[in-house]
Amino acid sequence: MIARLLPDWVRAVDTTTDASEDALWPAERAVLERAVPKRRIEFATVRVCARAALAELGVPAAAILPGPRGAPGWPPGIVGSMTHCAGYRGAAVARREHAASIGIDAEPHGPLPDGVLDAIARPEEHRQLAELAAGHPAVHWDRLLFSMKESVYKAWYPLTERWLDFDEASIAMDPGAGTFTAALQVAGPVLDGRELTGFTGRFATSDTLVLTAIAVPAAG
Ligand SMILES: CC(C)(COP(=O)(O)OP(=O)(O)OC[C@H]1O[C@@H](n2cnc3c(N)ncnc32)[C@H](O)[C@@H]1OP(=O)(O)O)[C@@H](O)C(=O)NCCC(=O)NCCS
Repeated sequence: MIARLLPDWVRAVDTTTDASEDALWPAERAVLERAVPKRRIEFATVRVCARAALAELGVPAAAILPGPRGAPGWPPGIVGSMTHCAGYRGAAVARREHAASIGIDAEPHGPLPDGVLDAIARPEEHRQLAELAAGHPAVHWDRLLFSMKESVYKAWYPLTERWLDFDEASIAMDPGAGTFTAALQVAGPVLDGRELTGFTGRFATSDTLVLTAIAVPAAG
């Protein structure tokens, strides 16, 4: 599902069926010592997806361990992103020669819990959500906004190793094209001598899920 939101130089694998904990590599099992079963299963399943996506790139299987602030540690020369939510796990990877960073996110397709939207949305985003809701009332645009911001953070963090707050990117959606832009409100990372001022991504919804994805092409 997520693959169709990404360019062909990205390999993405997703699933709605859980793997067994046996899929964990020993080093992965070691970081999960105190994790509850639900966490162990989502962690294992998304790594099955990631290793399948790496295989499509011709990259040997490897343990994928959480690094600083939880960002996944990919094999050398690889960038990628992973997501899991109820009923869905997905991973996307690319070679560094093609991609500078990737961010993907999946969320259940329902309204955000009370109070969350006010905590994450900027005034102009509130205004766009009101317009979108009037035109397309079946879509939970608030959940899409949240997912887009999660994808932004997952693409941002490996480039900067810095926190990015929810009000530090301004999202604008194009529902006809299924695309969005995220304009950074803080200085962006410099890629090959040029500052990255924002991200572009794609989104899709089903009855049960919202999916968002960003792939930043390699500079040059
Ligand atoms: C880290 C975060 C983005 C994860 O998103 P989520 O919707 O809660 O959870 P998901 O299941 O979709 O994604 C979890 C995966 O994200 C990845 N991830 C975690 N921290 C990450 C980071 N700092 N950078 C990149 N990817 C990260 C991991 O692969 C993780 O899965 P794993 O622990 O099994 O390896 C979220 O919890 C968070 O901290 N958000 C606050 C920051 C933010 O969103 N700012 C908005 C900027 S506009």
